[in-house]
Amino acid sequence: MPMSVLGRNGPIVSRLALGTMTFGSETDEAEAHRQLDMFADHGGTLIDTADVYSDGVSEEIIGRWGENRGGLGDMIIATKGRFSPPPGSHGASRRALVRSVDASLRRLQVEAIDIYFLHGWDRHTDVGETLGTLGDLVSAGKVHHTGWSNVAGWQLQRIVSTAQAQGYPLPVALQPQYSLLDRGIELEVLPCALENGIGVTPWSPLGGGWLTGKYRADARPTGATRLGEDPGRGVEAYDLRNTPRTHAILEVLQTVAARHDRPMSHVAIAWLLARPGVASVLLGARTAEQLGGNLAAADLQFGSDDLAALTEASAPGLPPYPYRFLQDWSDVDTWWMLGT
Ligand SMILES: NC(=O)c1ccc[n+]([C@@H]2O[C@H](COP(=O)([O-])OP(=O)(O)OC[C@H]3O[C@@H](n4cnc5c(N)ncnc54)[C@H](OP(=O)(O)O)[C@@H]3O)[C@@H](O)[C@H]2O)c1
Repeated sequence: MPMSVLGRNGPIVSRLALGTMTFGSETDEAEAHRQLDMFADHGGTLIDTADVYSDGVSEEIIGRWGENRGGLGDMIIATKGRFSPPPGSHGASRRALVRSVDASLRRLQVEAIDIYFLHGWDRHTDVGETLGTLGDLVSAGKVHHTGWSNVAGWQLQRIVSTAQAQGYPLPVALQPQYSLLDRGIELEVLPCALENGIGVTPWSPLGGGWLTGKYRADARPTGATRLGEDPGRGVEAYDLRNTPRTHAILEVLQTVAARHDRPMSHVAIAWLLARPGVASVLLGARTAEQLGGNLAAADLQFGSDDLAALTEASAPGLPPYPYRFLQDWSDVDTWWMLGT
């Protein structure tokens, strides 16, 4: 399994990470433990969970897996707080985060969380309070590194600038949605992460299942799939994603996959691994069989022509102002504009 350093000074992590959002919901404990065993056998080290996944059950399942094998010490455990279930721990305030971290430590059965993510911005809490609390949690040895998820570019820059000004730990990781189907972070969020040496760990690399090619334009999903069970679910909702643009991207994906005799999922994951700043891709799976298939993407190498075809087919296009204006008129380096 290839490895990379997360951000400028974060831990070394496997380039494919195990996302555990399905644990305790679509995936029962026995199947979740099979996924964890398989991931460890493949040399995977980064496990991503959150306090809200199945109301804490995902963390508990990981904790019991660690208990069975004498500890989670050889794994890098990332979890998240901000939307915690217990009353009084919602938000990014000092009160909320201290409670959330303690509850996650108990469920995971660990003394420290390797990477603690804020699951999103909290406009009701001064970011200085959040960063100061994270700094205290790091000093107390309960958290080793910090990261942020689901933030806008200006929010990420404010986090970094406030941490720098006040001497708080800088985030090593960013966890945004990012895939061939959604490249929205390339305008502001990703350039900000690159500028500040923050490692990117994208979520929903398969667009919630779309990039496996299993959802069709002319047939509403049925059966035991994410959208078969709930067609309106999240960012991948059938009516939102079932567009000519999605199917044009899938067509190019299918062509590249056929050329390499690989499933479409491998190509989608490999494209993401090749994007600037991407340190580790979070694989989500209902079954160990799906996970095994997706882990095999690690060794796919394709040429610059394939990468260019995928990048062109999925290009989101630049809004006219300021982005296209700057691109057309600026005589300075516009390397940060990845949206083209
Ligand atoms: N920070 C955040 O806000 C946030 C948000 C979302 C996720 N995450 C993290 O990112 C991880 C991955 O996100 P995601 O689960 O949305 O990723 P994804 O890879 O886009 O979607 C995973 C889903 O696609 C389907 N699938 C996966 N491999 C397949 C295969 N080989 N063949 C057919 N179907 C396949 C499965 O759903 P079905 O079989 O049920 O259809 C699976 O649950 C999560 O586990 C979590 O750790 C973070």
